[in-house]
Amino acid sequence: MKVLVSYATSEGHTRKIARTLADRIADSGHMVELLHIDDADDIDLDRFDRVIVAASVHAGHYQRAVSEFAAKHAAQLGAKPSLFLSVSLAAAGHDAEDWRGLDKILADFQDATGWTPGRVEQIAGAYMPSQYDVFRRFVMRRILAQKDPEADLDQDKEYTDWPALDALIAEWLGA
Ligand SMILES: Cc1cc2nc3c(=O)[nH]c(=O)nc-3n(C[C@H](O)[C@H](O)[C@H](O)COP(=O)(O)O)c2cc1C
Repeated sequence: MKVLVSYATSEGHTRKIARTLADRIADSGHMVELLHIDDADDIDLDRFDRVIVAASVHAGHYQRAVSEFAAKHAAQLGAKPSLFLSVSLAAAGHDAEDWRGLDKILADFQDATGWTPGRVEQIAGAYMPSQYDVFRRFVMRRILAQKDPEADLDQDKEYTDWPALDALIAEWLGA
């Protein structure tokens, strides 16, 4: 089986997730191509048996390039098994309003692109002050202080459950 793993990232964490998935897919004996979404624009999806798209949430949206990719390739994407990973800090918590927000972001994405992924997983992302500019650091410190009062606001912190991600990809490949 040949799998495309395409991703968009703003601070680099979704790239790490996508690389991890690509490694696991290769370790499982499958062929895999890992591409930033910008490099996947003109790709021939017929070359792949399955497709994974990973994107992160910023101010209530996925990266524009992901929406453009999904809209452009909606018909081909819809015709094969696909997995969409939505990476966010909201998914690191249990706030019902946050989770309703994630549902809405996903619904808007599906409406706008015409692509309904075969499977969607909400993945907890990371807090990465080392990657933020002054404004983002200010905003994100305030948000994180509320969500995770025990966090050191000066340190990067990953909330991704890596063993759960391994289990997810193993299950998806076997399905
Ligand atoms: C400026 C900014 C805005 C963000 N907005 C949201 C948001 O609206 N909802 C959310 O759940 N997470 C939000 N996040 C958290 C990111 O989704 C999270 O840090 C994710 O791991 C980023 O992945 P990336 O490094 O691949 O871009 C935001 C982060 C930043 C820096």
